[in-house]
Amino acid sequence: MDYKDVLAQKIGNIVNIDINEIKEYIEIPPNSELGDYAFPCFKLAKELKKSPQIIASEIGKKINISDDIEKVDVVGGYLNFYINKKNLVKNTLESITNTYGQSNIGEGKTVVIDYSAPNIAKPFHIGHLRSTVIGGALYKIYKALGYNVVGINHLGDWGMGVSKTIAGYEMWKDEYDFSENPINSILKIYVRFNKLEKEEPEITDKARNVLQRLEAGDKDTTDLWKWIISISLESYNKIYDLIGCKFDSYNGEAFYNDKMDRVIKILEDKNLLVDSEGARVVMMPDNMPPCIIITSAGTTIYATRDLAALLYRIDNYNFDKAIYVVGAEQTLHFKQVFKTLELMGYEKYAKNCEHIPFGLILDENGEKIGSRKGNAITLEEIFNEAIEKSLKIIEEKNSSLENKEEVAKMVGVGAIIFNDLANNRIKDEIFDWKQILNFSGETGPYMQYTYVRTQSILRNAKNVKFDNIDYSKLLDNEAIETIKKLKEFPEVIKSSADKNEPSIISRYLIDLAQCFSRFYNEHQIICDDETTQNARLLLTKDVGIVIKNGLAILGIETPEKM
Ligand code: ARG
Repeated sequence: MDYKDVLAQKIGNIVNIDINEIKEYIEIPPNSELGDYAFPCFKLAKELKKSPQIIASEIGKKINISDDIEKVDVVGGYLNFYINKKNLVKNTLESITNTYGQSNIGEGKTVVIDYSAPNIAKPFHIGHLRSTVIGGALYKIYKALGYNVVGINHLGDWGMGVSKTIAGYEMWKDEYDFSENPINSILKIYVRFNKLEKEEPEITDKARNVLQRLEAGDKDTTDLWKWIISISLESYNKIYDLIGCKFDSYNGEAFYNDKMDRVIKILEDKNLLVDSEGARVVMMPDNMPPCIIITSAGTTIYATRDLAALLYRIDNYNFDKAIYVVGAEQTLHFKQVFKTLELMGYEKYAKNCEHIPFGLILDENGEKIGSRKGNAITLEEIFNEAIEKSLKIIEEKNSSLENKEEVAKMVGVGAIIFNDLANNRIKDEIFDWKQILNFSGETGPYMQYTYVRTQSILRNAKNVKFDNIDYSKLLDNEAIETIKKLKEFPEVIKSSADKNEPSIISRYLIDLAQCFSRFYNEHQIICDDETTQNARLLLTKDVGIVIKNGLAILGIETPEKM
C-alpha cells in the first residue's frame, strides 16, 4: 500500500471526509525536514466549519502512529508526517523479487485490445508505429496485472485498397519478380496503380471489378487475395517479432463479410435505420453526424464491420473492457460505433468500450513525418536505421563488446519504442534521431545503460551476501529517495492501466534511474565496510530488477553489457 493511502485512511477515520478527497490534498514537502508527507487542512475548514489550525491539532492528537508513520508534527494548519524509514527500507527491499510489479487484480477479467491493424498490401509505414507500440505495451501491462488479454489485429484486408493491388497485379505481373521478396513487388504495384489512377481515373473500374469478383467468391481472385494477405503478414510479422508484439487473433475486416446481416437485422428490428440521401444511417444524439451503415451504393462500410466485430467479440470473449488503439482522426468513428452498439441494446458492453487515441509523429522541424522522396518510410527501414546507428555508437564506445549486433538490435529497437512511449500518448511525438539515441537523455538507451551499470557493479563486487542485510545502512537521503521510488512500482503499473497510458511507466523509469544516479554519485557502493556494501548492492540489484521489469512491460529488452 502507498503511504498516501495509509495516511488518507488514518485521517479519514478521524474526520468525516471522503478518503479520495483527503488523498488528493496530501502533499510531498519540498524539503524532507518538514516531513515526508504533509496534509494541509485549509480546504477542509469550510466543510468542517473549524479553523485549519484546530482541525490540524485535533487530527494530530487522535491519529495513531503505526509501523509506517513514526511521527507527526502539527505546524499551523499543516500536519507533517514522518515515515518510519527503517521499515520502509526493509519492507520494500524484502518485497522485491524477479516478478516484482506483477499482480492478480485483473484475474477473471478479460480485456480485448484492438491495435496495429495495418491495411494489407500497403507498406507498413510509420503511421502504424504508434498503434503497434502503444497497443503492444498495453497488452503487456494488462498481462502483468493478471487480466486475460486478447490482442486483435483488425487487419484492413478488404475493400478497394487491396482490390487496387490485385487489379495492378493482373495487369503487370509479368514485369515484376515475385521469387524472393514478393511483398516488395506487391508494394511497387500498389504505388504504381495509385499514381496511374491520378492520370487515368478510369482504371479504378478495374479495381471495382476485382472487388465484385471477390464479393462473388470467384476462386482465382480469392486465391490471389489470400496470397497477398499471406505475404503481407509475413512481412508484418518480421516487425512484430522484432518488437515482441503478440496477437491472439488476426481476424480482419474480411472476416466479418458474412456477419454484417445480423447487425442490419438488429438495427431494423429496433427501427434504428433511417434513409438519408440514399444511404441507411443511424441517427446520433448531441449533433453528432449520423452513423452510416449502408452507403448509397448499397455496400456496407467500415462502421458496419466494426459493429459486426463488436458482436463477435461480445459472443466470443464476453469482454469486461474493449480498447481500440487507433489515431485521433478516428475519434468520431468510434463515438458513432459505440453509440450505435448502445442503441442496439448492448449498453453494458458499450460503456466498457474505449477509444485510445494518440498524437501524430512529427520530424525535428515539427512537420508531419511520412514521406521521403515521395514514398512512405516503412517501419522496417526505420528499425534497420535505428539498429545500424546503434551499432555505430557501440563501435565507438565499446568496440570490444561481444555480441555487438544483438545488443545493437536491443538498443535500436528499444530507442524507437521508448521515444514513442516517453510522453503522454495524446501529445505529438517528435522523431529526431539525435534525441532518440542520446545515451544521456531521457531515452531508451539511457535506461538500458542504467540497467547495465547496475549489473556491472554487481559483477565487480566480491563476497556479496544478501542474507542478513543491515537495513540501517540505507537511511541516507539518496537511498531513501530511490527506495521510495521502488516502492511505487506496482502502483505505477496499475495507474498506467487505469489511464491506458504507458508513459506513466516510462516517466517513472526515468525518475527511478535519476534517483539511482544520485545515489551512485554520492555513495561508494563497492566499499571497505562489507555490511554497507551488501546493503548498497541489494539496493543496486533491486533497481536493476525494476528497470528490467519496467522496460519489459514496455516491450524493451535489456542487454547485460553495452
Ligand atoms: N486499418 C485501420 C487503419 O489503418 C485501423 C483499424 C482499427 N481497428 C478497428 N477495429 N477499426 O486506419
